[in-house]
Amino acid sequence: MKIFRDSDIKNNPLKDKQIVILGYGSQGSAQALNLRDSGFKVIVGLRKGSQRIKDVERERLKFLPMAEAVKKADLIAMLTPDETHASIYNEFIKTNFKQNGVLLFAHGANIYFKTLLPRRDMDVVMVAPKSPGPILRQRYLDGSGVPAIYSIHQDKSGHAKDIALCYAKGLGCGRSGIIEATFEEETKTDLFGEQAVLCGGLIELMKASYEELIKRGLPPELAYYECSHEVKFIADLLHTKGFAAFANSVSNTALYGGLKQGPRIIDEKVKKTISKIYDEIEDGTFAKEWFESNGSKNAWLDKKRKELINHSIEKAGKTIRELGK
Ligand SMILES: NC(=O)c1ccc[n+]([C@@H]2O[C@H](COP(=O)([O-])OP(=O)(O)OC[C@H]3O[C@@H](n4cnc5c(N)ncnc54)[C@H](OP(=O)(O)O)[C@@H]3O)[C@@H](O)[C@H]2O)c1
Ligand SMILES: [Mg+2]
Repeated sequence: MKIFRDSDIKNNPLKDKQIVILGYGSQGSAQALNLRDSGFKVIVGLRKGSQRIKDVERERLKFLPMAEAVKKADLIAMLTPDETHASIYNEFIKTNFKQNGVLLFAHGANIYFKTLLPRRDMDVVMVAPKSPGPILRQRYLDGSGVPAIYSIHQDKSGHAKDIALCYAKGLGCGRSGIIEATFEEETKTDLFGEQAVLCGGLIELMKASYEELIKRGLPPELAYYECSHEVKFIADLLHTKGFAAFANSVSNTALYGGLKQGPRIIDEKVKKTISKIYDEIEDGTFAKEWFESNGSKNAWLDKKRKELINHSIEKAGKTIRELGK
């Protein structure tokens, strides 16, 4: 596996080039600010009536309506939600973006699943920071960085790799490591990781375990602490020191109980489901369902998001999180 760091990246093909960041949400805000602070020329492109204009103004970033921003761009970073990329491309980019520009993604799905077919004259690259936007920004300000994956889909200029690495360096990712992968590899691992573990399995496990303790009459704050809050301490240990440090840091009772009961939870049935989830990513079933489901306006997602936010674990969570302040 090839990993690049700042010292490997000597060229600056984005010097004096106009970078246009479409969207100013989680990744858009972090990437715009990191690139600006790294000395690049950045304009943010926003849709009409965006609620984020005041945030962009507060940071003294230049912004324009999407159509106008696209016309000024040498590089466009697609940092609106994935499910909006095809329509934004077709409405604003296809006919208005200069010839031989660079189209950059932070996730590979639209290219890998061909929901968006870029013009052949463009370089098409991906720089996917492997963290939520606020952490990308915070690490940059701390003088460190988060790792990123970079990929090349179309290399019309012959310089697509230099451009992607230069952009990733501007985000601060070269302080950590910029890993080479394909759009396919990033798409499959990213979707699988968020579904099986990060945003799926882990969250359901925390909720189900919390609900069991509540059902048994235990105090909500303690239930929240054990089933959700402490996940961070274990995750931090794994993140910074690995499985050996984890195994040697928790008590023998905890390790014995965990190693004994964990496989009862993640049993053969669960493993088959995990495998099925991967199949549905690989054969495009998930992508088809999601991209055809009207994305941000998806009523099911809206309902489930509200249920999660209003789950009783959140009330207990607020009390415990206050203790750490
Ligand atoms: N979030 C992450 O941690 C993360 C990590 C790695 C990669 N990524 C990738 O980064 C990309 C951006 O994700 P994100 O989570 O940062 O997005 P996000 O926070 O949901 O993006 C919000 C921004 O997109 C704008 N927007 C939403 N719908 C739009 C539409 N139909 N037309 C025009 N603008 C629209 C919003 O406009 P308003 O200002 O008008 O509300 C806002 O400025 C995705 O490809 C994602 O897969 C995300
Ligand atoms: Mg993702």
